[in-house]
Amino acid sequence: MKRNLLLIFLVIVIAVIAIVILKKPTKKAEEGHNIANGKEVDSTWRAPDIATDLREKGKEREMILYGHDLIAHTAKFLGPKGTVAHISNGMNCQNCHLDAGTRPWGNNYAAVYATYPQLRGRSNTVQNIYGRINDCLQRSLNGKTLDTTSYEIQSIYMYMKWLGKGVAKGKKPYSAGLPKPAFLSRAADPAKGKVVYIKVCSSCHGDKGQGLLNADGSEYTYPPLWGQHSYNDGAGLHRLSSFASFVSSNMPYNLASHAHPLLKNEEAWDVAAYVNSQPRPRMDQHKDWPDITKKPFDAPYGPYADSFNEQQHKYGPFEPIVNAKTTKNNLK
Ligand code: HEC
Ligand code: HEC
Repeated sequence: MKRNLLLIFLVIVIAVIAIVILKKPTKKAEEGHNIANGKEVDSTWRAPDIATDLREKGKEREMILYGHDLIAHTAKFLGPKGTVAHISNGMNCQNCHLDAGTRPWGNNYAAVYATYPQLRGRSNTVQNIYGRINDCLQRSLNGKTLDTTSYEIQSIYMYMKWLGKGVAKGKKPYSAGLPKPAFLSRAADPAKGKVVYIKVCSSCHGDKGQGLLNADGSEYTYPPLWGQHSYNDGAGLHRLSSFASFVSSNMPYNLASHAHPLLKNEEAWDVAAYVNSQPRPRMDQHKDWPDITKKPFDAPYGPYADSFNEQQHKYGPFEPIVNAKTTKNNLK
């Protein structure tokens, strides 16, 4: 009898130990910790180093390097004076995906390979990586799409695959993409944003948001924020929360970071309102958000599934919209 009790006790102890051991890695992965060679490095995702990571060889390595150049210097290949095709507005992917999509909280590509294909509300279809790349080409670079068999899009794909290879399937690492900014209790104010813009942004981006081309005109030293060469009104940055988030963690360039933002939260929202109230190329978006209950709270154009008007969806205050039960208020 005593021996049986001892045996049951032992089984329970072993089971508890097994559960603790088995549970640990899942929890870590959920928190988005970065695991390299089975060891946790730190809580912020770090991209592999393109110069020293030589694990891929031959054709694969060649495509990764070309994919990197296409992200960093898109205009040189695909811009108005591009060597491959003339299908975009002269901006580089890197203008918004900093350090070729590797900077923590710099709108990086850490989660791309791990989380696509995915169901996206804007199209209400399952979208793959090629589709997502072409979305930014059409909207953020106000351009045309690349054929999915082209060497260019295949190389960008290989680059994103390489960048995301340490990330577990389906997981979004901490510091991937953009953070979610805290809401203001009032509407963002373009007039206040103009004051911020003139003081903090215009020295680089120009007093008319036109940016500054480099000496030979092949790409921007400072990219435009509005006007005919900027992103169009169907782009991700045309949503106030994306703009405020990007700018808060990354602008002024190389002076601000997620840990040390330079703008106050309200200044980031106000400058977003100012920039996004300026003229820019328009895009036919009547096919976007076919299921309007999936529209994000800050989709700047109606129709909406709730009773808040276009003005409030564009500038806020957003909390009442998010708290309303009529929509799912997809935050992505
Ligand atoms: C004007 C700014 C801008 C430019 C230029 C730009 N993007 Fe984006 N991109 C964004 C924003 C903002 C998002 C996030 C949108 C969202 O979450 O709604 C995004 C998202 C993406 C994503 C999905 C990331 C994820 O984790 O889901 C991919 C892939 C992408 N962009 C590729 C590209 C490529 C390739 C180019 C160049 C051809 C490019 N982008 C140029 C602003 C830009
Ligand atoms: C010191 C110069 C500098 C200042 C000041 C600055 N930026 Fe930028 N900004 C840049 C550069 C450079 C890039 C592109 C980075 C790259 O290509 O690697 C950029 C990119 C951007 C982008 C994404 C690309 C685009 O053109 O849409 C936005 C949005 C942006 N800045 C907004 C702002 C705002 C708003 C401010 C003021 C709060 C600001 N920046 C202040 C240099 C600056």
